[in-house]
Amino acid sequence: MIVLGIESTAHTFGASIIEDVKEDSNNVRVLSNEKVVYTTTQGGLKPSAVADYLQSQSIEVVKKALIKADVKPKEVDVIAFSQGPGLGHCLRVGAIIARSLSILLKKPLVGVNHCIAHLEVARVLTKAQDPVLLYASGANTQVIGFSEGKYRIFGETLDMGVGNFIDSVGRLMQLGFPAGPKIEALAKQYANSFKGLPELVQMPYSVKGMDVSFGGLYTWIKQAIHSKKFDVKAIAYSLQETVFAMLLEVAERAMAHLKKQELALGGGVACNSRLQEMALAMCKQRGAKLFVPENQFLVDNAAMIAVTGLLQFQANANVLKPEQAVIKPYQRTDDVVVKWR
Ligand code: ATP
Ligand code: FE2
Repeated sequence: MIVLGIESTAHTFGASIIEDVKEDSNNVRVLSNEKVVYTTTQGGLKPSAVADYLQSQSIEVVKKALIKADVKPKEVDVIAFSQGPGLGHCLRVGAIIARSLSILLKKPLVGVNHCIAHLEVARVLTKAQDPVLLYASGANTQVIGFSEGKYRIFGETLDMGVGNFIDSVGRLMQLGFPAGPKIEALAKQYANSFKGLPELVQMPYSVKGMDVSFGGLYTWIKQAIHSKKFDVKAIAYSLQETVFAMLLEVAERAMAHLKKQELALGGGVACNSRLQEMALAMCKQRGAKLFVPENQFLVDNAAMIAVTGLLQFQANANVLKPEQAVIKPYQRTDDVVVKWR
């Protein structure tokens, strides 16, 4: 079976073709995974401008995905699209293309939850069985696990996503967008300048119950930068140590509560090698296993939508007629009926 996946929840428009191996939805080959990402040199994202950009690129991206996979449109069996959560303007771009293709090609449509797709792609591609997912991206920071028939959020950010927090600090340091990889590089330089354990700048550590928050830390760092008391490299290093420890504390507690022995990572921030290293250390201490998909499947991508779409199609979960394929900008992870597990 061949699935076309379409992702368009925020600044990424992606199209991917996957194929199951021997009719096994847990054994897939990713034939293509194409995308464009809207970027700005200054300011934030204006949803209507992002959507216009995604719209202008969308047909080309779908074509590229088909060509790269060497698949003809009529060979596609199922079309999966990200139904939510996300920016309404952007979700609509993907939904319109998916509906149009479904009508033209007479193929079924599957609506996929973006957050669950981050977990499913890790499960299918890394062969994790039942992991807790630490989903750390620009807009989202959640710890998700499967429990009593549903994917549930066990902890999340109370204010901004960890990636947006890192990018905001990057703006204070005039590093440009996205700042994650640049802060990671500064932190590495700082750590390498010590023979032993690097000196840590003490910063506010904010875990509240199972949730995290970054607002107070952001204000603290803003003042620290203005005071010029610390080297920016020391701040970059210490903020990584602090926020990654916060995220992993919540992830570890979710693993203990759910009695799960696997942790998977998802989201753009999970590309950070220090986060991966700290996650591995935590898993080793608990006798648990860490699963990290390739970077192209960590950031927003359409392969994860196709993979989840395939699992859902085979279980007849949220298979939609074009007229039912509405977007769900505020869809919650635990609203989704999980018939495929
Ligand atoms: P969402 O999935 O919530 O819609 P998004 O589209 O913003 O969010 P991704 O594409 O998953 O998210 O990730 C982008 C974020 O990842 C940016 O905030 C960026 O700074 C961050 N990021 C990328 N690489 C790294 C890295 N090496 N270290 C830390 N952060 C990183
Ligand atoms: Fe995402």
